[in-house]
Amino acid sequence: MNTPLCTTDGAALEDSARRLLDPGPFGYVAGGAGSGATVRANREAFDRWRIVPRMLRGAHVRDLGVTLFGERLPAPVLLAPIGVQSIVHPDGELASARAAARHGLPFVISTMSSYPLEQVAEAADGPRWFQLYWPDDPEVCLSLLDRARRSGCTTLVVTLDNWTFGWRTRDLDNDYSPAAQGIGAATAFSDPVFRDRLGRPPEDDLPAAIALWKAMFTGVDREWHDIAFLRRNWPGPLVLKGILHPDDAREAVDAGVDGIVVSNHGGRQVDGAIAALDALPDIKSAVGDRITVLFDSGVRTGADLVKALCLGADAVMIGRPYLYGLAHGGEAGVGEVLTNLLTELDLTVQLSGGRQRSDLDLSLLKTNREVG
Ligand code: FNR
Repeated sequence: MNTPLCTTDGAALEDSARRLLDPGPFGYVAGGAGSGATVRANREAFDRWRIVPRMLRGAHVRDLGVTLFGERLPAPVLLAPIGVQSIVHPDGELASARAAARHGLPFVISTMSSYPLEQVAEAADGPRWFQLYWPDDPEVCLSLLDRARRSGCTTLVVTLDNWTFGWRTRDLDNDYSPAAQGIGAATAFSDPVFRDRLGRPPEDDLPAAIALWKAMFTGVDREWHDIAFLRRNWPGPLVLKGILHPDDAREAVDAGVDGIVVSNHGGRQVDGAIAALDALPDIKSAVGDRITVLFDSGVRTGADLVKALCLGADAVMIGRPYLYGLAHGGEAGVGEVLTNLLTELDLTVQLSGGRQRSDLDLSLLKTNREVG
């Protein structure tokens, strides 16, 4: 592991990764869509809120544990699904999954992991979920669901905001694409139905395998009624990721799913999209407690975690920060980032007079405008 990670903020973590990585991989991770307006908006949204700490509340004893879909977690934090992690460290998702397990936090295995999903699942004995990029071939989809279930993934997260890549200017300028090299195809390439469709082992004709993989996973156009297919074929909790509009949150309730992730994919898809944090209060009002509301996009500090929880998230997913930790020091680097975030979360809750998750609500927040 390199020298200890900077504990101050996400910008310092990002700077440290910039020094460690080549411009291609670094730009792929740090970059957003278009002008970067939504990446910036995600941060500015957090800066618009101020915490108003409460005193004399007996906050020296705390338990921030939450129960999500019947699973008890030590803190309301998960590791967001992130594919192609080997572009920042050779151990990729194996290291991140191990670090997550050490903290007892769920690791959401991406369809586009650098390692086959079974290998990521076997790497660590912690809570694990599976994130689905929904292929156009239903048999391949069913095969992925079956593999995820048999690998012990309890919850299915279906990503809705990435049917095709956003206009990622840094990657275009760097002429960098992990997918073009087949990075992220490990789970598809090891899938028996995919291999059957290809008609030969992917390694025998890599360009053809990559072409089929891309065709199968991009440009698929689904509608709300299609969710019933997943509902029928996934026995566990079903979560839709990438919800930003309250009407879509209501649709999700009507579709019978168990949860949503309020997310703009870390600002990587629609340049100019609303900050995920700005979308959260209206979505929470729209769905209330009818489904579980998760959140990601822009979280960089423990105080950010507190704000997202106060604004209605049942739990929060960490994205780029843990990837920067991975770049810095593999499993130990991810572990250090998680330790820092969880410690700052706990301290901020204590100093704000909170003892448990249910103490964190809107009464602890004011906007800058309200403050004056
Ligand atoms: C992602 N994200 C993502 N999401 C997903 O559902 N499946 C995936 O495979 C990936 N892959 C991925 C790669 C990289 C390099 C990044 C940065 C992000 C999006 C991710 O789950 C999450 O929504 C964002 O990372 C959250 O924003 P922050 O925390 O990075 O600002």
